[in-house]
Amino acid sequence: DRNLKIAPSILSADFANFGAEIEAVEREGADWIHVDVMDGHFVPNLTFGPPLVKAIRKHIKTVMDVHLMIAPVDPYIDAFADAGADILTAHVEAGPHLHRTLQAIRGADMTAGVALNPGTPASAVAEVLDLVGLVCVMTVNPGFGGQSFIDMTAKVRDLRAMIGDRPVHIEIDGGVTPKTAPLVRAAGADVLVAGSAVFSGGSVADPAPYGANIRAI
Ligand code: DX5
Ligand code: ZN
Repeated sequence: DRNLKIAPSILSADFANFGAEIEAVEREGADWIHVDVMDGHFVPNLTFGPPLVKAIRKHIKTVMDVHLMIAPVDPYIDAFADAGADILTAHVEAGPHLHRTLQAIRGADMTAGVALNPGTPASAVAEVLDLVGLVCVMTVNPGFGGQSFIDMTAKVRDLRAMIGDRPVHIEIDGGVTPKTAPLVRAAGADVLVAGSAVFSGGSVADPAPYGANIRAI
């Protein structure tokens, strides 16, 4: 299915080798590269910020898809634009002024994305669908890789109907495996983030499993 994109999350890569990991996973068939930014406040984990995102940008040939699990978002938008993000995704739950945040992301010449936690209904994005290029449906509570999939297929179906003919991707993030992927694809998702399912069993020294894992999803 050529309309399906697989976006490996570098959260499951070797943190001491991001450049080589990204180049390996792109060679093995990654469509986008998904970059998880966590602040230890919006989610109970810390990853990295704009300087690291900028450093890895030059290793990415395809789309850099940056998922912000931070609050607030607005003070950091320019820094992520400068770091080279193509898509910048903010959570609905990150603040009271979602519309302003998405306008600011567009104003900084990036594609705006909006993410929904599992407990947030599809209706939370109804008024911003004309501003975004991507809706990210979390199928885990964000913060960690390797968690089990929470079934959000009904939400995905609702969103696909709400989006109608707008050019908006539906991305699934969390617990994507060869078992869970068909469920969300059938419901209308077209971008699948996968961390542990892509990186397990491989390494920079032996990246062939990355390709096999991507093709299995
Ligand atoms: C969760 C992150 C996801 C996560 C996916 O907070 O946003 O991108 O790393 O990892 P897996 O595929 O291992 O569930
Ligand atoms: Zn993510």
